[in-house]
Amino acid sequence: PVQVKKICCIGAGYVGGPTCAVIALKCPHIQVTIVDLNKARVDAWNSPDFAVPIYEPGLVDVVKQCRGRNLFFSTDVDKAILEADLIFVSVNTPTKKSGVGAGFAADLNYVESATRRIAAVATSSKIVVEKSTVPCRTAESMRTILEANSRPGTRFDILSNPEFLAEGTAIADLFKPDRVLIGSLQTTEGKEACRALADVYANWVPQERILTVGLWSSELSKLAANAMLAQRISSINALSAICEATGANIDEVSHAVGFDSRIGPKFLRASVGFGGSCFQKDILNLVYLSESLHLPQVAAYWRQVVEMNEYQKSRFSKTVVDTLFNTITGKHIAVLGFAFKADTGDTRESAAISLIRDFLSERAFVTIYDPQVSEEQIWQDLSEACPTTPLETIKKQVTIVHSALEACTQKEAIIIATEWKEFLEIDWQTVYANMNRFQGEGHWAWRARVKTVLRHSLSSDIDLNFNIGH
Ligand code: NAI
Repeated sequence: PVQVKKICCIGAGYVGGPTCAVIALKCPHIQVTIVDLNKARVDAWNSPDFAVPIYEPGLVDVVKQCRGRNLFFSTDVDKAILEADLIFVSVNTPTKKSGVGAGFAADLNYVESATRRIAAVATSSKIVVEKSTVPCRTAESMRTILEANSRPGTRFDILSNPEFLAEGTAIADLFKPDRVLIGSLQTTEGKEACRALADVYANWVPQERILTVGLWSSELSKLAANAMLAQRISSINALSAICEATGANIDEVSHAVGFDSRIGPKFLRASVGFGGSCFQKDILNLVYLSESLHLPQVAAYWRQVVEMNEYQKSRFSKTVVDTLFNTITGKHIAVLGFAFKADTGDTRESAAISLIRDFLSERAFVTIYDPQVSEEQIWQDLSEACPTTPLETIKKQVTIVHSALEACTQKEAIIIATEWKEFLEIDWQTVYANMNRFQGEGHWAWRARVKTVLRHSLSSDIDLNFNIGH
């Protein structure tokens, strides 16, 4: 029976980095090497002061315990492939920007080139594990590539082992996963490979949480889980539009609905919409898959989850404009939070980007504060979001600052776009005192204005019922 002694992980990103660092921590007898073509990223993982390239609570602690012991980061992809018994493919799979399926299908270029590299380099048998989120039956094409290129005497077993961690809680999720899912071919060799990977996880995950299924079920389960999670958010957001039109309170509705044990309270918070690199991409993937399978009704059903999300973002921008007397031209808006959610520096598909783009197109001035996102990242995201506007023009309208209070000073509106905990502790009394008031506007009007804006943000916990003297 195969026993895994050396693991290689291709892709040192949000998934490959934390996942394999935790494997190294929990399996001191296994040598784990995480490789990436991006030298800057690898250098950051290796930096002497542990300035790792992604912000994730608890991650640095794990890396500190294992790096140099049985955890290594390298750009030498071939060497790591050669030495490993088991290889995770954890590269990015973004939505295709052009060609067949553009805008929907996953771009499998990175998965394919990593797979071809394995085929070209390997001189001994390997278990190849698809960790990236991929459309159904990608393992099949990986197998075709590997088998067509393998040398005599070497065999490749392909497993699907999708990752369910959530950014911001990745380390906690990896320590105590709800489940680990492993898909394999139901052949003797397939099952044997599956057992070898299950044994790795069994070092810290209880046996009953390690689920083994067929390859295609495993691939589809990842898309299904993300689609269902995103669907809850779009459902509650759709209800928030009804609440705003009727005067019902979405927090009360959500609370009441979530008390139903069949529904449950999680993922039922109305917000400005979901972001992140996965939900939209994976649903679009499912839409594409449904269409390729000639299931147009199924495709339309899932597509609506993404459309509702787009609607929620634009509805929010519109509310801001409406609340500020139907124009924001020349007005000053603070945006607190730029990451797509709290406890991460990741900005991919962040709702904040869409909002700011809308505000800029209305020629408002925007001041941004986020505790984790770098200025460089913000400029890059805004340039990409406004491709026809030169960066110098954007910079005339946007200021980036280093504290929430600084961002809120002399503004006409404050938007909380990310639910960072520190925003709960903002001293609203001070903010209020330092805000721009419209002539003749009393504090009740102001408070209604701020509340309208907050109502749509994720931060319904924020208490604005402080006492403001006249
Ligand atoms: P990422 O973009 O942070 O990391 C991918 C890394 O792979 C990059 O650093 C890139 O340089 C490297 N890479 C690409 N091609 C390579 C090659 N041929 N050889 C060596 N390195 C290569 O992406 P992230 O967020 O880690 O996602 C990876 C996969 O995991 C995606 O399929 C995603 O859908 C999935 N996933 C992501 C989750 C998340 O929360 N970010 C959660 C669960 C799954």
